[in-house]
Amino acid sequence: MRTPIIAGNWKMNKNPQETQAFLEAIKGKLPETSVVESVIAAPAIDLNALTWFSKDEPLKTAAENCYFEDEGAFTGETSPKALSEMGLDYVVIGHSERRQYFKETDEDINKKAKAIFRNNMLPIICCGETLEQREAGETNAWVAGQITNALKDLTAEQVASSVLAYEPIWAIGTGKTASSDQAQEVCHVVRETVAKLYNDEVAGKVRIQYGGSVKPANIAELMSKEDIDGGLVGGASMDPESFLQLVNFKG
Ligand code: PGA
Repeated sequence: MRTPIIAGNWKMNKNPQETQAFLEAIKGKLPETSVVESVIAAPAIDLNALTWFSKDEPLKTAAENCYFEDEGAFTGETSPKALSEMGLDYVVIGHSERRQYFKETDEDINKKAKAIFRNNMLPIICCGETLEQREAGETNAWVAGQITNALKDLTAEQVASSVLAYEPIWAIGTGKTASSDQAQEVCHVVRETVAKLYNDEVAGKVRIQYGGSVKPANIAELMSKEDIDGGLVGGASMDPESFLQLVNFKG
């Protein structure tokens, strides 16, 4: 049984005061992590508030990015070692915005995945195609390639504990959700890719999220699909009421 995992991705939004207000609003209202894992991925400046809150509440915490070295002369980067010492559970890597605006490559993402495991956290590894790639019929091969490159040299145990997030770029922040069948089809490709690279047992354990205009109105339908184990949610995770509806979705 794969535990559902619903993660908010705040992107470059919310300051520490706004974070505090959000946390006060969700206090005492999250499901137990054995039922649904509720995760928030927040900007680095807000993570301290999240990790304090998560000591008493069933919230898992995520950074939105980290560097692949543990420490050193890398001005402006965030250390995975420091994130781990702060108590972070997850780090999101390979988000399409990081690939597009900050030129992150599959190789960087693979190095970051290794750094995250080295520091006892878990990665949420994103993949997804552009609209042009979808229209050209390249989606499945592209996504399988991104996953293969991101997982290079990771052990079966590491991959089994990872979270993979399929986020079609054309559905992010556009209000255009992939249909639940489109989302299922590619999430299945992601699981098949893991099965080919490792084995069925690992593929059966890895959790796969869909992301791209997920909201309270469509979460239950998406979660009803066999290969969709969770959501990675931007816009609809910013408001506490909406976040609570997402994590308390009725399957
Ligand atoms: P969205 O963003 O829910 O606002 O489409 C999803 C994401 O980028 O993770």
